[in-house]
Amino acid sequence: MTKRVFSGFRPTGRQHIGNYFGTIQNCLQLQEEYESFYCVVDLHALTTLENTATLKEDVHNMVLDWLAAGIDPEKSVIFVQSHVPEVTELHMLMSMVTPLSWLLRVPTFKEKVRMHPENVNYGLVGYPVLMTSDIALYKGEVVPVGEDQLAHLELAREILRRFNSMFGNVFPEPQAKLTEFPLIVGLNGAEKMSKSADNYIEIAASPEDIRKKISTAFTDPARKYRADPGHPEVCNVFTLHKMFTVGRIAEIERECRNAGIGCTDCKKLLAESVSDYFAPFRERRLELQARPEYVREVVQDGAARASRVARETLREVKAAMNLLP
Ligand code: TRP
Repeated sequence: MTKRVFSGFRPTGRQHIGNYFGTIQNCLQLQEEYESFYCVVDLHALTTLENTATLKEDVHNMVLDWLAAGIDPEKSVIFVQSHVPEVTELHMLMSMVTPLSWLLRVPTFKEKVRMHPENVNYGLVGYPVLMTSDIALYKGEVVPVGEDQLAHLELAREILRRFNSMFGNVFPEPQAKLTEFPLIVGLNGAEKMSKSADNYIEIAASPEDIRKKISTAFTDPARKYRADPGHPEVCNVFTLHKMFTVGRIAEIERECRNAGIGCTDCKKLLAESVSDYFAPFRERRLELQARPEYVREVVQDGAARASRVARETLREVKAAMNLLP
């Protein structure tokens, strides 16, 4: 039987180049090999959200980008976490087998307490229990995650092991599948591309916006004047050329080193490459956008398919716990 992949993604709205080469490419590959469940975890987002004003729009734009990029609702179950409310019930039951001490020592929790001591809510402490419930509800066996999620996944395995030992073997033990992807450094050249660092390029950006964004990118700091020789190995624009202008990379490197090309022209060239790379994606996105109901239908159908699995699992859990009427 094909194994089931489950992964959850916080609703971050329009996707950027970092998301594209990390998450999206990975999902595209996995949907060919596994039975895939891709879930937009809007409930998890609530643990740190100040308000929900843009939540729906963020969910919509994220799913639209996924679909335009080729995540295929015929192959994958694409759905929104809160649309299948069984997860909240499982979360309650899982909370009963999770020692509080396990949750209080989770690194991401401690980090959030340090950063936002004013917003340490009950839901935040339970974040990994909800994540465990996501995976468990759909009996996910393979969970593609980045390195930052490994501690959560280890905890999920411990919680499920404990559940199984107390109530019988209901859940498979999920395996982390570490996603290896190129680290996409943001336009400021200092840290990884992210919305929070405001150093990103959206994959749906227009060619004009791509050009504007790239014109702000940091380059080789030692190259002050046009005639100075450049050092491509320390230049983030060059790093991006390696992904987007592959065919001309030797020429760009040479011309940078001997000051044959200036940073401004080098950035213009990169903007063209990035625009060309995402042109088919933009076209497909426009087509989908012209059908306003489409995204809604996809997530509705996804929720219906996910619900069937969810109801069955929850029934099994309740039977194991002697909770069925
Ligand atoms: N915790 C994950 C993150 O912040 C999101 C997530 C929620 C998740 N539920 C999941 C990931 C289940 C994998 C499996 O990115």
